[in-house]
Amino acid sequence: MKKQIAIFASGSGSNAENIIRYFQHSPQAEIALLVCNRPDAPVLQRVQPFGTPCSLITPSGLQDPDTILPILQNKQIDFIVLAGFLLRIPAFLVEAYPQAIVNIHPALLPKFGGKGMYGINIHRAVLEAGETRSGVTIHYINEHFDEGEHIAQYTCPVLSDDTPESLAGRILELEHRHYPAVIEKLLG
Ligand code: GRF
Repeated sequence: MKKQIAIFASGSGSNAENIIRYFQHSPQAEIALLVCNRPDAPVLQRVQPFGTPCSLITPSGLQDPDTILPILQNKQIDFIVLAGFLLRIPAFLVEAYPQAIVNIHPALLPKFGGKGMYGINIHRAVLEAGETRSGVTIHYINEHFDEGEHIAQYTCPVLSDDTPESLAGRILELEHRHYPAVIEKLLG
């Protein structure tokens, strides 16, 4: 039986697309669902050519077990991949999917995580702190943002002439290179 994966994404969706492409012909797993909380999120257009079913939820729907759990159960979801999803994952969902919800954070946690640390803010903070390396952290989700157990980290240099945008681009490349393969490994 193929593992059924749901991607939660509400941004531009480059990781979502990359993961969908990676598993397109996989005998091991299938991207069975994309869950999104923003009707105008570019990710929705982006995944259309792949025919991935999409489910729009509201922030309150995500917090309601009677809303989100049936959406996942209908697709027999085994594993949840967060890829640019900014809403906090509620405790009941973490309990329903023990060690089966992962996220990618575009910095080397535990530094540069937590409240307000998303998007370009992260890279700005890394540059302001004078770090010489940054990278990505793939981690399990618990009910505290960015505090779940680390699975893998990949690093890249911070260059002296980096802008937040140039650093973001280098880190996005790292995400695309590593995230799908780490997910594949975790599926066992
Ligand atoms: C990525 O930088 C990821 O690390 C973070 O959100 C961003 C999503 O980018 N969690 P995209 O929507 O996949 O292009």
